Amino acid sequence: MCDKRLCSCRKKSAAMAVDPATLEKLEEGYDLLSTSNSPSLLKKYLTREIFDQLKKRKTSYGSTLLHVIQSGLKNLDSGVGIYAPDPEAYTLFAELFDPIIEDYHGGFTSKDIHPLPDWGSPADMGNLDPSGEYVISTRVRTGRSLADFPFNPSMTESQYEEIQTQVVEAFGKLEGELKGQYYPLTGMQKDVQKKLIDDHFLFKEGDRFLQAAEACKYWPTGRGIYLNDAKTFLVWCNEEDHLRIISMQEGGDLGEVYERLVRAVTSLERKLTFSRNERIGYLNFCPTNLGNAVRASVHAKLPKLSANLKKFEEIAGMYNLQVRGTRGEHEEGEGGVFDISNKRRMGLTEYEALIEMRNGVLEMIRLEKES
Ligand code: ARG
Repeated sequence: MCDKRLCSCRKKSAAMAVDPATLEKLEEGYDLLSTSNSPSLLKKYLTREIFDQLKKRKTSYGSTLLHVIQSGLKNLDSGVGIYAPDPEAYTLFAELFDPIIEDYHGGFTSKDIHPLPDWGSPADMGNLDPSGEYVISTRVRTGRSLADFPFNPSMTESQYEEIQTQVVEAFGKLEGELKGQYYPLTGMQKDVQKKLIDDHFLFKEGDRFLQAAEACKYWPTGRGIYLNDAKTFLVWCNEEDHLRIISMQEGGDLGEVYERLVRAVTSLERKLTFSRNERIGYLNFCPTNLGNAVRASVHAKLPKLSANLKKFEEIAGMYNLQVRGTRGEHEEGEGGVFDISNKRRMGLTEYEALIEMRNGVLEMIRLEKES
C-alpha cells in the first residue's frame, strides 16, 4: 500500500524517467492533434516547443504529460482538453496550464493571485424570478479535493476508499436540514441507481472525457452520493472530483440555495482539509474548477432569446455566462430550457462569482421580457 503521501514508492517514481512507451504515445498523439482542427484550448496552446519542454517531466506521484493531455487527444472535440492528474501538475506543467487557465477564466494570468475565500452575505442574492415564469430551478455547487491526495488517474484503489471513509465520517457531523444519508455506488440496487439518475441527483457513469482521462478506474469503488432528506443538498464522492458539494431546489431563490451551500461547506471544512494553492485557489481535477470552484446555475426557460442559439450564446458570453443543455454539460437544451451559469471561477471571490451570475441572469430575463 502506498497511500502515505511521501512513501518511498512516490520518490522512486519521481526519479524514474518517463518510459519509452509513454513518450511514443505522446508523440503519436501530438501529431494527430496538431494536424486536426480540434477547437480545444489544448490544441491552441500546446505548441511543439512547449510539448518538447514538458514531455519528459514527471511529478512525484508519477504523473506525466500524457496524463494531462490524454482526454483531449482522444476527444478532439473537447473544449478544454486537459486535466491535472495531481496537485503538483499545475506547477510542473504550468507552461501548458497557465495559458489555458488564462483563456478559460477570462484573463486570469500567471502573475495573478486568486483572492482569499469570501462567501459574503448570501441574503444579498434574493430571488431571481419571484414570478416563477422563467427560472425552473437553481443550483450552486463547488468542487473540493482532500489535501495530499492525487487526482483520478494517479489514485490507487485504496485511496478512493480512504477518501470515501474520511468524507462519510464528516457527513455524519452535518446537522439540521443538512442531515441525510450516504449511498455508496458499490452494492447499490439498479432501481435505486436509476431513480437517483432520473431525478438528476446522481451522476452517470461513462462520460467519455473522464474515461479518456483515466478518471473512471476501479469504478464503482469509493464512489457514492450523500443526499439530505429534503433532497436539496447533495455531495458526489469521487466522481470527477473528490467532492462535488451541491445545493439545489426548484424555483429562483438563489439566496436560499447559496446560503445552504455556504453552511454545508463551512461545516465539512471543520472535519476535512481541502487542497488549496496560494496563487490559484482550490485545486481540483479540471482546470475549469480552480479558484473558488463555484458554479452557480439556473435552469431557465427563455424561448424568445434562445430561438437563435448563436445569438443566445453571444449574449451569455457578454455577461461571462455559459449556456449548456439541461441533461448534462455536453447535451442539447430541451424544450427551450437551458442551464445558465457563471463561467469564470478565478480572480474573483465566491461572492463575486455569485453576483456575476445573478446580474447576468437578471439581465437575460429582462431581455426575454422585452423581446
Ligand atoms: N474535458 C472536457 C472538455 O474539454 C470537459 C471540460 C469542462 N468540464 C468538466 N466537467 N470539467 O470539453
